[in-house]
Amino acid sequence: MNIITSVEALRAQIATWRNKGEKIAFVPTMGNLHQGHLKLVDVAKHHADRVIASIFVNPMQFGKNEDLDKYPRTLDADCAGLRAHHADALFTPTPELMYPRGLDVQTFVEVPLLGDLHCGASRAGHFRGVSTIVCKLFNLVQPDVACFGMKDYQQLAIIRQMVLDLSLPIEIIGVPTERAADGLALSSRNGYLTAEQRTLAPKLYQLLQQLRHNILSGNHDYRALEQHAKAELSAAGFTPDYIDISARNDLTLATSAEQPKVILAAAALGTTRLIDNLEV
Ligand code: PAF
Repeated sequence: MNIITSVEALRAQIATWRNKGEKIAFVPTMGNLHQGHLKLVDVAKHHADRVIASIFVNPMQFGKNEDLDKYPRTLDADCAGLRAHHADALFTPTPELMYPRGLDVQTFVEVPLLGDLHCGASRAGHFRGVSTIVCKLFNLVQPDVACFGMKDYQQLAIIRQMVLDLSLPIEIIGVPTERAADGLALSSRNGYLTAEQRTLAPKLYQLLQQLRHNILSGNHDYRALEQHAKAELSAAGFTPDYIDISARNDLTLATSAEQPKVILAAAALGTTRLIDNLEV
């Protein structure tokens, strides 16, 4: 696996593949790779001749009081995982390379409406950071295909919208969430949970399944279902941020039985923020 740290080396690697007519798939990550990330690499392999991943803990998508400094950096283990899953290259830029003039004067990309809801409402600037870095990485790598996990459902919707709005010639593939045996969605942030919190954590997915069941059984009082689920989460020891029964097309709150839906949820256990979702 070619480990690339400069723009010049990245462009040279991409040009080598392009000159051979090879199709390129891209898997952007922030590292601390788990089975969910490695599945993205496996799916990417099926769609292209070459797979390039990136690891960049993107400061622009972290709020001031968030976990940028303590976000786990595990490059050696990540490289071993990527090699085992036959990634061809890894791009690991530094913040100085990606934001040479600093974050305050960086041109940004922002997806309106979709970026303001749910996590966008509670994490100001988060999705601007995500869309800006993903756009920059797309311009650097110029992939044919890019893979993203469906655990970050809103992020995936925002990236799809950005690609459409900016006419980027990239196919976006959403890959289903990988879960632990007890249902907890795999996430790099799960490592922050204490043993006690880890036993509580699967409750979030259980509640989503219960909500889905209630909706499919004909309960269409979505706002009441959301309130009830939030109260249950609080009683179980979580600090809920939102549980939103949303329309799948634009992620606004669902209002009618006919709309295809997704339930989006975010809740903290202690200081660890967990998100999950379930399509209905
Ligand atoms: O999902 C992530 O890990 C990040 O938000 C991404 C897409 C790599 C952008 O930094």
